[in-house]
Amino acid sequence: MCGIVAYIGKQEAFPILTKGLQRLEYRGYDSAGIALRNGQGEFEMFKKKGKVADLLAHVNGKKLTANMGIGHTRWATHGPPNDVNAHPHFSGNNRLVMVHNGIIENYEALKVALEEAGHTFQSDTDTEVLVHLIEELQKRENLPLEEAVRIALSKVVGAYAIVIMDREDPDKLVGARKGSPLLVGIGDGEFFFASDGTPIVEHTRRVVYLDDEQIAVVTRDGNLQIKTIENEQLSPFVEQLDLQIESIEKDGYDYFMLKEIHEQPHTVADAMRGRINAKEGWIRLGGVEEYTNRLLQANRYIMVACGTSWHAAMLGEYLFEELARIPVEVEYASEFRYRNPILTEKDVVLGLSQSGETADTLAALQLAKERGALLYGIVNVVGSSIARLTNAGSYIHAGPEIGVASTKAFTGQVVLLTLMAMSIGYKKGTISKSYFHRLLSALEEIPAKMESLLSQCEEQVRYIAAEMKNATNALYLGRGYNFPIALEGALKLKEISYIHAEGYPAAEMKHGPIALIDKNMPVIVIATNKSAYEKIVSNIQEVKAREGRIIAVVTEGDKTISPLADYTIEIPETEEVLTPLLSVIPLQLLSYHIAVMRNCNVDQPRNLAKSVTVE
Ligand code: G6P
Repeated sequence: MCGIVAYIGKQEAFPILTKGLQRLEYRGYDSAGIALRNGQGEFEMFKKKGKVADLLAHVNGKKLTANMGIGHTRWATHGPPNDVNAHPHFSGNNRLVMVHNGIIENYEALKVALEEAGHTFQSDTDTEVLVHLIEELQKRENLPLEEAVRIALSKVVGAYAIVIMDREDPDKLVGARKGSPLLVGIGDGEFFFASDGTPIVEHTRRVVYLDDEQIAVVTRDGNLQIKTIENEQLSPFVEQLDLQIESIEKDGYDYFMLKEIHEQPHTVADAMRGRINAKEGWIRLGGVEEYTNRLLQANRYIMVACGTSWHAAMLGEYLFEELARIPVEVEYASEFRYRNPILTEKDVVLGLSQSGETADTLAALQLAKERGALLYGIVNVVGSSIARLTNAGSYIHAGPEIGVASTKAFTGQVVLLTLMAMSIGYKKGTISKSYFHRLLSALEEIPAKMESLLSQCEEQVRYIAAEMKNATNALYLGRGYNFPIALEGALKLKEISYIHAEGYPAAEMKHGPIALIDKNMPVIVIATNKSAYEKIVSNIQEVKAREGRIIAVVTEGDKTISPLADYTIEIPETEEVLTPLLSVIPLQLLSYHIAVMRNCNVDQPRNLAKSVTVE
């Protein structure tokens, strides 16, 4: 993770860099730093543990005049998050200064060799080792900066996005990437580097997404050169950045997470737009149409993902098995990639990822590609690494998700999985025409149902949050389609409010967690099921008999569960396979309000980051 922004041009660099870093804070907020090269040819560097706000307090209004500079917001990997380990890092002779996102895996060996050559290091970071290596090569062979960078990177094992500045060269910035995202923004007489489009969108929409092992050199006279680590020159492929400024502002909400929860009626509609038509009875997903034969003939589907995307993948298993009758395996990408999995050319591997950059998911997909499987991506960020690696895919079109806890990306992924399972099932003949049509109509009604649920349940959820806010543990139970929702509800609560929570299949509770239940334990039961309804009612009885506090999410009009539960939240009626799209919403709101009441920083929970580009 970590966020990078850099600028060279005629404008003041300081405000561009600091505003850009604030936009990138979702990628990490352990420390923030900037280095500027001023008109006198000197570097000025400021870096501070904590957020960009702490960095600004540290700069303390000092007038900084420079029209080139680099900035970084960090999610710590090597070394604790303190001022010294914050980026940027100088080379030994202070001639070079660099920011880095990623991990240099062979940094210890490189460090030892550099120490033998007389280098000493200030920080514990792998980044400082790399910038010393570049300095060493530059000095030893009197190389231009980009050439020293190229040779140094060929000695590096690991992942990086870097931007580097040379005090002796007032007209040039050099950036490179492998495994961590980096783009070049092309302005009018100016250039930017950034981890994504958010820091540069008000300055330019013309961007070049760098590929792995590519180096970009930008100069003040308007020249952009791209070459590979093997020294092959490439012509830049300029693309248009598709990002609206409003979508990266809070728009009156206290937190991005709350805004993103409330955006779901629109994002879910956007995920379906142009892809379904209930009246005419069709679903069209470009990726599915293109690879229909392979998708239909596959032996099995394997879904790889991490975090909340993994919960969406679990729902994918239920959806594909029920609607398309295809066996599905759901894998934590981090486990799958190191397990020597059995894969054949008859397998389809689906990668689910909001960011499209999660290192483990990307590596799992790379492995599957090497073994001949067809890769399908369900991704939010357009042009991201996973989107580019996969053979086919569908974007979820949720717009930028900035709150670290994923909400609208999750429902977007679930919509795409539903459309895919329905489309493949229909082509295979595993769902009837009438059921297909019923599901299409029900899907079209979901945005309006989400809208009414959001407006009706929030007050009540806030009340329940006040009752629950001092809990130290919570249990989330669900069966069938609501089991992955129980997992997701528990994850949301722990990641932003720091209350320990577990999600469990409701019936499995009696094999362990039931021992934890007493009058202090809130038990959130997602009980909107049509199938196995009596079973879930029995599970609620089991909790009640142990004096657990029951918060039940039920379908509107439910008369059986409310007398048993302490609190009941109603969701609109829909087809059972679609209920997760609605039942997850009160759980997102519940965790949000509890976190606010506990004074937690909802958008930037401790120790987490939005985009995990390290293993
Ligand atoms: C991090 C985020 C989670 C996210 C997970 C997977 O842990 O904090 O919210 O679900 O990464 O991210 P991806 O971008 O691959 O969906």
